[in-house]
This record gives sequence, C-alpha cells and structure tokens, in this order.
Amino acid sequence: MTRVYNFNPGPATLPIEVLREVQAEFLNFDETGMSIVEISHRSAPYEKVHNQAKADILELMGLGDDYDVLFIQGGASLQFAMIPLNFATKKNPGAYVLSGTFSSNAYKEAQILGVGEIAASTKEENFRRVPRQDELKINPNAAYLHVCYNNTIYGTEFHYVPETGDVPLFADMSSDMLSRPVDFKKFSLIYAGVQKNLGPAGVVIVVARKSFIEHSLDTLPTMLRYDTFYKKNSLYNTPPAFSIYVVGKVAAWIKSNGGLEEMARRNAVKAKLLYDAIDNSNGFYRGHAEKDSRSFMNVTFRLPNEDLEKKFVAEALEHNLSGVKGHRSVGGMRASIYNAMPIAGAEALADFMNEFRRVN
Ligand SMILES: Cc1ncc(COP(=O)(O)O)c(C=O)c1O
Repeated sequence: MTRVYNFNPGPATLPIEVLREVQAEFLNFDETGMSIVEISHRSAPYEKVHNQAKADILELMGLGDDYDVLFIQGGASLQFAMIPLNFATKKNPGAYVLSGTFSSNAYKEAQILGVGEIAASTKEENFRRVPRQDELKINPNAAYLHVCYNNTIYGTEFHYVPETGDVPLFADMSSDMLSRPVDFKKFSLIYAGVQKNLGPAGVVIVVARKSFIEHSLDTLPTMLRYDTFYKKNSLYNTPPAFSIYVVGKVAAWIKSNGGLEEMARRNAVKAKLLYDAIDNSNGFYRGHAEKDSRSFMNVTFRLPNEDLEKKFVAEALEHNLSGVKGHRSVGGMRASIYNAMPIAGAEALADFMNEFRRVN
C-alpha cells in the first residue's frame, strides 16, 4: 500500500508513528482486552488518557494552574455560538476581527444573539492579509476580542499577538494550534477543532483561564455552559473518547519531537520551500496571501488559468501528492502543511511545482 503525501486542509495528515501505535493497541488497549472505543469513559484506563492529554497540552503551551483544558463536541462551529452565549451582552458585546470565512462565521453567531461588533476587517481585500494592530478598533467595553489566528481557507496567519488593553483576547486556533510557540498567556480563551493539526474530528480543545470558565450564566442550558465542562473535568456526559485518545498521542508525539520550537522550525522549512517555489516562478504561481500575513500551515496559490489548475491537481495526484485543490472561495491550490507533514512531503511538492512550471 502506498501512503500519499496528504495536503488536505482537515481532516488532515497525522503522524505515521501515532497511526501505527493506534493500530497496534486497537484490539487490546492498556491490557484491558478491549478497544479504547469499547471501554467506559469512567474507567481508570480511560481517565489516565484523558488527564494525560490535558496535562501535555498545557505543558506544551507553557501554561500553569490558572488555565484548564476542556474537551467539547460540536466542532469549532459550536464555539462560535458558545462564546457569545457565555460572555457577551448588549452592554459588553463581543468584538470580532474579520480575517476570513471562519472569523466571519464566528461573528455571525454573535450577531444572531445581537451581541457582536466588528473591530477590523480585511474583507474588502478578499482577506489577503490579517488586519494590522493599528487597524484594530477595540471597544473598551467589549467582553472580548475574537481573532482567528490562522485562516485555513485564505492561507493567512497572525504573526503578532494583538494588544487589547483590558479586553480579554480569544482565539480560534483550529488550524495552527500547537504548530509554534506563541505567548499563550496573553489569551484568555483559545479553542481548536482538532481535525487539522491534532487528531480525528469529533472534539474541540478549549484552553481557557479558569476564572473565565468556572461560573456561567444560570440562564444557559447545561451543555452550552463552560462551567459544566470545567466542573466535571469534561466528563459530565460521554466524551468523544477516541478523538481525545488520538489527540493525547499527538501531543505526546509533539513532546518527543522537540516540542513547539521544533514544530515551528520544521513548519518554517516546509513553508519556505513552497513560498520559494511561488516567488521564484516568474509569476506562474501567484500567492493569495500578502507576504507578511502568509500562513505557515496553509499555502494558497493560483496558476495562470483554470485548465492548468485542473491539470496541476490531477498530475500532483499521480506523484502521490494528494489534496492540493484550493477552497472554492479562493480557487487555485492550497497545500496544508500541518505538523505531521514531513519536510520530504514539502520538498516533493516544491519539486513538482518547479517541474510543472517548466513543462507548462
Ligand atoms: C480556523 C477554523 N475555524 C473553524 C472551523 C470550523 O470547524 P468545525 O468544522 O470543527 O466546526 C474550521 C474548519 O475548517 C477552521 O479551519
């Protein structure tokens, strides 16, 4: 069987070592004689997995006892609603930086509740960059400023942590969580659907200051309150045990591969290979993102015409380079190079890009 280099945006490639471990212990997890998907979430072997995953995530992020990790279902999209439900009011609205599709979707949920406002937007520029610090108009009464740290579809990423004064900073890091060191202490709440950089779909990791999640409004239903998950260690109801188990393995893999510093180094090498192939193509490849907003996770680019784009996708697949077709709102190509993409995969794609340009 040939495994391809998988450039899909999510669900996405996972470390082969993790997949092998999951396979090896699938029928008999931790000497239970059962699979991880067959055991109780109240059993000691499962709780060990659950708590170790939480501890490893906090350790990788350099966060201490004032933060906790929650595991919640419903995708990052449910967080778009839970955040304004839990924190925003008409008097203290949620402020949103619009930098792409998902930040706009997050804002939409706050708007439905009548508690959202826009702090900055690059929509007029087709989201080719993230707003600069000097463009952020943050209402000092805002309950939070919400940013999407990496814009999966447009291929842009924040390369600075927004200064927000006394307004708490919240971030959707679904597509760059644990890809590089960030001063995470500057954030009050971070969330990530894990199916890009960290595991199989089914769970969202919420990392938040305890002071933000220990009490929720009494008017909220149980499953929409952060305090339900906080007080019960995310075991109020049955958690998505398999997803959490794989996330735990991926976190351990990151730790044993040099932590976030080493992930950042590898990701920068991969990104440079692809951006160099774009920049040195005499305009054959045109990057979507402006240079200082370029994502280290999702590299977006177009070719001279759509026929060549179709040909590129088809021929890439013949070279075992899968999932390079871009999202319809940008068109062209998108190569997602999450932590688990080996440098050799980015080299293979860069070589293919150079050869494709030469021939076409
Ligand atoms: C940055 C970002 N936020 C949110 C989402 C939505 O995530 P979910 O499908 O888990 O709701 C995605 C999915 O692609 C994403 O890339």
